[in-house]
Formats: sequence, structure tokens, C-alpha cells
Amino acid sequence: MSSFCEKYAPITLNMIIGNRNQIDRLINFGAEVQSGKKQRPLLIYGPTGTGKTAAAHAFAYSNGFEIIEFDASDYRDAETLQKRLLPATTSRNLFGSKVIVIFDEIDEISARFDKGIEGILTKLFKESKSPVILTANDYWSRSLVFLREYVERVEFKKPSANEVVSLMNNILLKEGISMDKATVDIIVNRANGDVRAALNDLEAMVGANPELLEHLGMRDRKVETFAVLDKIFTSKRLASRNAALASGIDKDMLLKWVDQNIPVRYLSKKDVANAYSVLALASRFNNNATRTNYYGYLRYSNDLMSGGVSLQNTGYISTINPYLFPSVIRYLSTTKAERQHIKEIAGKLSQIFHVNKKEIVNGYMPLLKLMMESGEGAYGKEETLAFMEKHFNLSTDEADFIKERGKHQ
Ligand SMILES: Nc1ncnc2c1ncn2[C@@H]1O[C@H](COP(=O)(O)OP(=O)(O)O)[C@@H](O)[C@H]1O
Ligand SMILES: [Mg+2]
Repeated sequence: MSSFCEKYAPITLNMIIGNRNQIDRLINFGAEVQSGKKQRPLLIYGPTGTGKTAAAHAFAYSNGFEIIEFDASDYRDAETLQKRLLPATTSRNLFGSKVIVIFDEIDEISARFDKGIEGILTKLFKESKSPVILTANDYWSRSLVFLREYVERVEFKKPSANEVVSLMNNILLKEGISMDKATVDIIVNRANGDVRAALNDLEAMVGANPELLEHLGMRDRKVETFAVLDKIFTSKRLASRNAALASGIDKDMLLKWVDQNIPVRYLSKKDVANAYSVLALASRFNNNATRTNYYGYLRYSNDLMSGGVSLQNTGYISTINPYLFPSVIRYLSTTKAERQHIKEIAGKLSQIFHVNKKEIVNGYMPLLKLMMESGEGAYGKEETLAFMEKHFNLSTDEADFIKERGKHQ
């Protein structure tokens, strides 16, 4: 199932909320390009989640352009970039369609990776027969100095709360879902102009425990969180703390994310152990800060949970599995029916293990899940299910439920 952001991504420029003048500029730009006049590339910049990338795409759809798109991961290697740009140097691609070149998040460019890239871009700006649109968060970023003289800038601002509210109400209407006005307002206020965050939270709230609302701040900015986690887990340098500090992610929450995901990324057992030691220290500084009201301690915990964890990386990481949501969010995001089911199973198991239900959910269910996974590998599914039934009184459904839990988040 696609997310609200994907499902309701604007297809035409008029579907984009806010930034009326800027959208008009894009519409004109389309007319100018269509008339065959060479145009300076447009650089759309502004805060995250305001529709910059969406606008570039909608522009392409409205004008019938085929998109050649680059993103942060492409700004490292000049040679590949050059190759992929070939079709743009003429006005039509091999199949005769017109193309547009989109450089998304161009401020992620870093001359450190490959000096050749800036040259390729400026050459393209001068010679390209196809229109070019770039997006960036920060126009004033030092890495963009080289292109300022070539581009026309279009600044995107945050859409107003009213505009976001009506977008959300439209979506609720289309989905046939009712949600009380207060909840919608809280989501919109928290998102603070970030439409992507608002849509993600709206989706999270549908059918979820109302308690989740209090934790929305944590679930906010999933994309941003993943980017910071990437920096922490793939880097081996202290510098990853800069990404963590610069991000708006709540540091308590970041700690939970890192906690949940150290074993998802680090492959070496030693790295995992070292990373957890560092994280434990971070958590201690965190607690000290709240206990003593001396917030200077947060400096240490922030550095430890980010750069400190990166330093434990000896080079064996896995990027195959998606990040896991911290269990607190995972639990709150489950639907009522699921929670009911979890409760029932936990109630049953708590009589067998003689521990409370919470302990069952947090400590025992993950173990049972592991047991079943390795059991199936060794003895097959039938045998494993029979074992679960015999020893833990779990029906096939219940056992399956435990095994599948947490996979889809
Ligand atoms: N102004 C907007 N109008 C309508 N939808 C938007 C707007 N801004 C963001 N969105 C929604 O959020 C998603 C992400 O927006 P995106 O364009 O990627 O943001 P940005 O590039 O500015 O960070 C879009 O796919 C769309 O669903
Ligand atoms: Mg974008």
C-alpha cells in the first residue's frame, strides 16, 4: 500500500498548496521552455516538506517531459553523472521525448567527493537544450556558491496552517475517514509547515491509539531520522554528530532509534557491543542532565549517541534491512484489533511464564519469535508449530502472529 505522501503527491502544479507566486513562475517557465527559448535553470529552495521536489515533478508531468533525476547519492562520481546526462545535451531523448533534468537536494553536493562534478554542472547549465530544475534546502550553503550565477532562484515558503488543514481534510474525505478537528489541528501545528510530516502523521493517526498523538513528535520527520541514522551508521567518524545536532530530531528519540537499530546495521558482534556501551553512557548523561538540571551533560550524550556510535564501526555494516521503529512507537502505531490480539496472547503466556503481560510483550515475544524462526530452519514449520502448541499453548494463528509482528513497520 502506498503512503499518503505517494498517493496524494501533486500531479499538476495547481495541486500544490501554498507558494502561489512561485507556482505561477513555474507555469510561466513551462511556457517559456515550450516556446523553445533557452532558460536559466530554476533553483527551488526552502524548508523540508514544502513541495519542492513535488513541484519539479508536477512541472515535468504538466509539460510532458521525461524526467532525468539525480539526488544526493549521485553527487559523488563525475563519470556516472556525465553518462546519465547525455540525453539532456540534446533537446530530445533517443525515443524522441523531451526531457527535463532535475537535480534534487543539490546542496548535498560536496566537492570533497569529486571535483569534476561542479564543472559538469556548469557546462550543462550553459549548454543544455533541456530545461533544468534544481532543489535545495539551503540556498546559502557554501557548496552552492559555484552555481549561484547560473540559476534563477525560486524560494518556497511554508504553506499556512489553513492550507495544510484543508489538504488534510480533502484527503480524509477521499479516504472516507473521519477525524476530529482537534487532532487534525495538533498534527498540523506540530508539522509546522512540513507537509510531508503532516501527511505521515495523519496516516499514522488513522485507526491508531489516540495516545500516539502525544508521541507524534517522535514519529515526525521519519525521513530526516533515517538520513541521520544513515550518517551515524555508515560513517566511521565523529563528524556524524554534526548531522544529528543540526537535525530537528528530538535527542531522546534519536537515542531510542539508535538503540533499536545498532544490530540492524552493525554486523560485527564486537561493534554491536562497543556501540551499546557508548550508547549506555549517552543514556547515563541524559539521565544525569534531567536529574541534576545541569543540561551541559547533554553535550556528551548527544555526541556519544551519534559520533560515538560511528566510531565503533570497523567497517562491517549491513544496509539490507530497513530501520526498525523504536518499540514504543511501533506499539502505539498498531491498530486496536492488533493490540487486543497482543493482549490476549500476552495474557495467556503470562500464566505460563508467571511474569506480567508487559514483560511478555517486551521480553518474551521477541524471544519466541526468534525461537520460531530458528525452529523452522532446523525442524520445519509443522514441527515448530506443534512445539509452540504443546509447550506454550499457542494456536497456529497466535504463533504466526508473534512471528510476523514488527515485520511491517
Ligand atoms: N505544497 C504541497 N502541496 C501538496 N502536497 C505537498 C506539498 N508539499 C509536500 N507535499 C506532500 O509531501 C510529499 C513530500 O514533499 P516534497 O516535495 O518531497 O518536499 P520537499 O522536496 O520540499 O522536501 C509530497 O509527495 C506531497 O505528497
Ligand atoms: Mg525534496
